[in-house]
Amino acid sequence: MNTKMFYAYKNDNSIDKISLKNASQILVSGELVAFPTETVYGLGVDAYSTNIYKVFQAKGRPQDNPLICHVGDIGDVKLCGHPSKLADKIFKLFSPGPVTVIIDKNDKISSDVTGGLSTVGVRIPENEVAREFIKMCGVPVAAPSANTSKRPSPTRACDVLEDMQGKISAIIDGGVCSVGIESTVVDARGEFPIILREGKITKADFLKHFDRCEIAGKSDDKVRSPGVKYQHYSPKVDMFVHFGENELLIKDFINQNMSKNIALCGETLFVSNFEKLDNISIHDMGKTEEEFMHNYYFSLRDTEKVSDMIIMQMPFESEGLKNRCTKSCGEKFI
Ligand code: TXA
Ligand code: MG
Repeated sequence: MNTKMFYAYKNDNSIDKISLKNASQILVSGELVAFPTETVYGLGVDAYSTNIYKVFQAKGRPQDNPLICHVGDIGDVKLCGHPSKLADKIFKLFSPGPVTVIIDKNDKISSDVTGGLSTVGVRIPENEVAREFIKMCGVPVAAPSANTSKRPSPTRACDVLEDMQGKISAIIDGGVCSVGIESTVVDARGEFPIILREGKITKADFLKHFDRCEIAGKSDDKVRSPGVKYQHYSPKVDMFVHFGENELLIKDFINQNMSKNIALCGETLFVSNFEKLDNISIHDMGKTEEEFMHNYYFSLRDTEKVSDMIIMQMPFESEGLKNRCTKSCGEKFI
């Protein structure tokens, strides 16, 4: 299969509607089209179609891991399911944006999409290209992240191409995703929000609007989001994570691994302390949590090509980032 590339923006930076229309027609005809969102690129399929299996095939994804349905605005949530009052409130507060809300599904969404569950995750992306594209499709767009299962999520069109070339019909290139990690998944069927997957929107953000909010798996041990039990987001080379700012510890670790071709990724000032070492390459992840998030996934894809060991230094409090780092490195900490 030839994977066609569409460009979302014209030279004057306005959205190329003809390009998006052509891509939407490919999706509506039953094929897979990858598209940019503010979090990561999604691998889209018509959520009402019988072609859902194509997504699982292209990604090598386990069948019981449900897909998120994307719609263009709040009024279209009902195309996927029955939002509770709590869900309505969460959509009003945080959408469009990097949040996925779990509600009871309707009959038009098949159990192929939801991995056999009676619930569905619905998301309204903030990215203008994503919303324009979804509206042109005229149906909810079911989409997981557009990476091969277990690989780092794609935040650039070239990352999608790396994993999906020849496996999907088209990719819409909309530049680098602004947020950089996947949406916060929140169960909104009960009395208060329960976070199933952490992201840019945090428990603290919910607690500004709700008396109570819990993180699943922290208060009880039941895994509520099927995806969280799988290995995820891993580069092809060995990866170690340091949560903190202990320079001596990292220098020791580098010395013990002199035979390796090491890539050190971390906060700007921290990594600048290592510039004099000549057996490692330095990758500046930025000064703030937001920059770090934005740079996270594509840095894994870039550094795995030039090293045989990645050390990730992560000094920020973000639970979303801690969770991605922990999974990417397979819990190998320094
Ligand atoms: O930011 C994002 O969420 C991106 C973009 C493309 O929207 N999508 C994404 O999809 O990350 P995916 O498939 O890689 O991750 C979806 C997560 C999985 O952990 C899945 O188990 C969970 O959401 N999920 C989906 N539907 C669910 C449901 N009905 N109940 C519980 N968890 C659900
Ligand atoms: Mg994913």
